[in-house]
Amino acid sequence: MIATVRRARKLDGAIRVPGDKSISHRALILGSIASGMSRLGGLSPGADVQSTLRCIQDLGAECDGVRLDGRGLHGLRKAEDPLDCGNSGTTMRLLAGLLAAQEFESELAGDESLSRRPMDRVVEPLREMGARASWPPLRVGGQTLLHGFDHAMARPSAQVKSAILIAGLYADGVTSVVEPVKTRDHTELMLKAMGATVDVDGLRVSVKPATRLEPLDLDIPGDLSSAAFWLVAAGLMPGSRVVLEGVGVNPTRTAFVDLLVGSGFKVKFLRPRLAGGEPVADLEVTSAAALRPLQINGDKAAEMIDELPVLAVAATQIPGQTVIAGAAELRVKESNRIEAMEEGLVAMGADVTALDDGWVINGPRYLEGARVSSHGDHRVAMALAVAGLIADGRTDIDDAECVEISYPNFFDHLEYLC
Ligand code: S3P
Repeated sequence: MIATVRRARKLDGAIRVPGDKSISHRALILGSIASGMSRLGGLSPGADVQSTLRCIQDLGAECDGVRLDGRGLHGLRKAEDPLDCGNSGTTMRLLAGLLAAQEFESELAGDESLSRRPMDRVVEPLREMGARASWPPLRVGGQTLLHGFDHAMARPSAQVKSAILIAGLYADGVTSVVEPVKTRDHTELMLKAMGATVDVDGLRVSVKPATRLEPLDLDIPGDLSSAAFWLVAAGLMPGSRVVLEGVGVNPTRTAFVDLLVGSGFKVKFLRPRLAGGEPVADLEVTSAAALRPLQINGDKAAEMIDELPVLAVAATQIPGQTVIAGAAELRVKESNRIEAMEEGLVAMGADVTALDDGWVINGPRYLEGARVSSHGDHRVAMALAVAGLIADGRTDIDDAECVEISYPNFFDHLEYLC
């Protein structure tokens, strides 16, 4: 599908973005090994989370999309075929942790993009725990004697941290992970809510072996990484006001908002509250006044890795030179996001130079509509759509159906807000 986006005068209105993808994956995976029935309100409708749902169903859990009948820690059964993780790295890596600890062997497969993504980062620590694990193709499990261990992570990754913690539930001692930078902590919060013993001491997270996990009762907040597109779009368009209702504002996810505000964007957190142990607020964004350029390095980049494509779009409109560095991980996401965003934004007239680990962007530049490619990557498609809203003329985005991965009604929301 080619999506056509035209310049908008302003954005105006209130919307609810889809349920948080990271929390949704964790709720399905951990709920599948809980003892009893979980209620999961507001699961992400995106294709990635549907992949996780199908995988846990193939492993014997029953779930209708809201109610999930957990099998207990030792009640999953071997799937008949390789588990299809689709496009979802989170599905593959978190399930690798869970399935490495099962008596049976599992194979995890994915689409072309996922098949290219590195899985050694999860295989190696799981093997250190005594699990059987190999890649490619990714095969784990069939050896239940896992050992607790102390693992210093070479690079920040919430997915790898989560895989190890989940495997640690089945180990014979304490499992500790030390992160170089604090990454999203939804796994830790959820495991605690389920009665597991999880200790957090600075960058060290430890989990004790579990005998039982209590079921969940969750109302999953909106996904800040989806809200990010509207924060940038409304901020860049004079006269705009958008309210994003019920967005998760866990402090391990809000570095991007802090950065935008530091640059001159106007974002307010209205009605702050708690839902299912996670902080939530309505985000109100109005047009920015004077903007200042941004400098992003390794630690900061890791904290807002999913928001960097749309941040690159913002930087094209900020006076001065923005440098986004320390984000080499972008090269191994659903696409090579460094190249995909450079290609799309340069085609639209932006001054963007790719680095090995980010971009140098000089702004402000007048953008003109062009035919651009999403490279089948949902965040690239949505970031280029935001660029299209501020560009003259029309922007055609190839393979735009990939927004289904995280935000199926993205283009409906775009039309509604314009
Ligand atoms: C995620 C962690 C991040 C992020 C991804 C979701 C998670 O990946 O990019 O979209 O839910 O744990 P890494 O762990 O590879 O940094």
